[in-house]
Amino acid sequence: MTREQINSTEAEVSLDRVDGRLKVTGAARYSAEYQAENLAHAVLVTSTIAKGRIKSIHAKSAEESKGVLAVISHLNTAGVPGYGSAKQPPERAPMGTSFRVFFDDFIYFDGQPVALVVAHTLEQAMHAATLVRVEYETETHQTDFKANISKAGMASNVQRNKNSPFQDYSRGAAGAMLRADVKLEETYTIPTQHHQPLEPHAIIAAWEGDDRLTVYDKNQGVKSVQGQLAQAFKIPKENVQVHAPFIGGAFGSGIRVWPHTIAAVMAAKMLQRPVKLVLGREQMFTSVGYRPYTVQKMAVGATLDGKLTFISHEATGQTSAYEEHLERTVLSSRVMYECAHVVTKYRHLSLDVNTPTWMRGPGDATGMFALESALDEMAFALRMDPLEFRLRNHADADPERKLPWSAKSLKACYHLGAQRFGWKDRVLEPRTMQKQGMLVGYGMASSLYGFHRHPSKARAMMLANGSVVVQSATMDIGPGTGTAMTQIASKITGVPARNIRFDLGDSSLPDAPGQNGSSTIPSVGSAVHVACEALKSKMLVLAAAMPGSTLSVAKPEEVTVKNGRMFSAADHTAGVQYADILKYHNLPQVEVTEESRSGQEVNQHSMYSFGCHFVEVHVNPLTGEVRVKRVVTCADVGKIINYKTARSQSIGGVVGGIGMALMEASVMDHRFGRYVTTDFASYHIPVHADIPQIDVIYIDKPDALANPIGSKGLGEIAIVGVAAAVANAVFHATGKRVRELPIGVEQLV
Ligand code: MOS
Repeated sequence: MTREQINSTEAEVSLDRVDGRLKVTGAARYSAEYQAENLAHAVLVTSTIAKGRIKSIHAKSAEESKGVLAVISHLNTAGVPGYGSAKQPPERAPMGTSFRVFFDDFIYFDGQPVALVVAHTLEQAMHAATLVRVEYETETHQTDFKANISKAGMASNVQRNKNSPFQDYSRGAAGAMLRADVKLEETYTIPTQHHQPLEPHAIIAAWEGDDRLTVYDKNQGVKSVQGQLAQAFKIPKENVQVHAPFIGGAFGSGIRVWPHTIAAVMAAKMLQRPVKLVLGREQMFTSVGYRPYTVQKMAVGATLDGKLTFISHEATGQTSAYEEHLERTVLSSRVMYECAHVVTKYRHLSLDVNTPTWMRGPGDATGMFALESALDEMAFALRMDPLEFRLRNHADADPERKLPWSAKSLKACYHLGAQRFGWKDRVLEPRTMQKQGMLVGYGMASSLYGFHRHPSKARAMMLANGSVVVQSATMDIGPGTGTAMTQIASKITGVPARNIRFDLGDSSLPDAPGQNGSSTIPSVGSAVHVACEALKSKMLVLAAAMPGSTLSVAKPEEVTVKNGRMFSAADHTAGVQYADILKYHNLPQVEVTEESRSGQEVNQHSMYSFGCHFVEVHVNPLTGEVRVKRVVTCADVGKIINYKTARSQSIGGVVGGIGMALMEASVMDHRFGRYVTTDFASYHIPVHADIPQIDVIYIDKPDALANPIGSKGLGEIAIVGVAAAVANAVFHATGKRVRELPIGVEQLV
């Protein structure tokens, strides 16, 4: 996008990242970069079988190796808080048990931590880790999803909970499929995909005495890590300090506390010195979850004039043998379109693998690949333009909850996106558009993402010099949280952004949710908004008390603030600087802490972010190589706080979606139950050369019912639907429908 195309409103709300300079100069400090006196280095030793028991651990040569301080395993953790056990349990952990590191001799998956080598230096620890020899008693493992799919069932915690959203769902379904004019039944598959942030997971753990713990840990929620570590190590929450001010990407891998974190904290406790543990890239494939392998059966019925009459969406997702991970995979099929007859089911397949976790747009990105592919297939069966088909089935109200939307500008997204993309030039028949010998395909898909707003607190402080500090225990895993919060604070207080500091990523700050579920701006942004409003009110009271103040009679709404100065709208000449208010009252600072949370509005309205993507692909007819040439993505997420950082998030989401469609797949060798694609040479993610021009459009209309700032989540809707839009474009280019991701040349020639 050229400078001219960015209109002035966008330019005004495109503040550069407040921490951009720190990041590009290397001054931003990430978890593994902190220093601690006497810091020891740890390296994990992981299992080489997928199921069985540890017979013996030969650690002597590692222990005697130069610089080694300890080799920690289930053999010597008895009595250590964390997950150590004094007694070997007789049986494998039942379903529903978090994996307990160094707890017993059972092996649940390949790559499971079996020992931790701690040494003076990293090199010493790495070397000694190669000397640890583990003998196993191997049992037959099952890791092959397709070979075992008949064993899938309903998760036991769904069976127990009648109100679970993952219960089987049906509305008006009886006989509906039979009555449809056109029917379609297809199966869509996505492979396991792994989050691969630039920064691997890392922790530095340091104990002070027996009951005070400080960690520098890569995660997505300092408060949640604080709570989980306090519980695991049986110490008061206040005694755990978690620092994570900078995170080099996470995509969901940092939502949970993982075994390696516990292992490092245990080691620091046992050795009574700080311990650092950084996962190797290959360990990122077995230590911090993944997007689960999922097979989805879709059945769709429609009338000849393009009205959906029936949607059945059944998904089976992978989980481990010890823990049930549930995803929203089928839920979007209940709400995306107006359709009277809908059936959804979610099933689990438990395998000898580690537990999956949330990965950007968890469930929705998976489910919408199936729904939006099936819709495209149905549109083609009806010989109808895919966009027109979606417009005919637009849901004017939430068809699941039978509630009005709080706001929905999806039709505007379709319209603006199609216009910018040039959708009208699309020829209905596949394999008819060509450019320079390449098959050209235009594809599109809708997207949606639920609205998540959690109770959040923020503290706002006016300092003596008139600058503002705002604090909240929220996170920035990459989107630019501090920048957006600075803008919210600046707008309300009238203090220029350069005079505002926003603190995050520290568990001692006011309570806030972790950065997940695209909830940060809606939740924490609202808290910052109300805290700054409260600060302004407090300043107004103080200002009004000054002799001769023209503000004494002003109502808050009549007061304007600009450049750190308050003045009444009636008289612009007689204002007062914030700094002078504090000076007059002889105050070092003025401080407020406020909480913001949802009210009844969430029960009266259905709240979602909406959007759509348009994709042009070129496919080489001889080699089957697919190149994405152009993407237009449009989102209706309420008010946009910062166009620049928002656009980056949308671009990142689309890149993730392109990776999902064309590249990302964690391939396992089932003879060993082991991933073989554990580096970037074999686990492919898009690089710059794979990514074309991505055009981002926002409706930018506040959703007044959602929260005080009118903003909904953006981070995840950016990826939802992208893989389907690519697959739909590939169909349009080639006439070949690929229903199993990633789309490779082998499926196209
Ligand atoms: Mo996201 S998968 O909620 O980080």
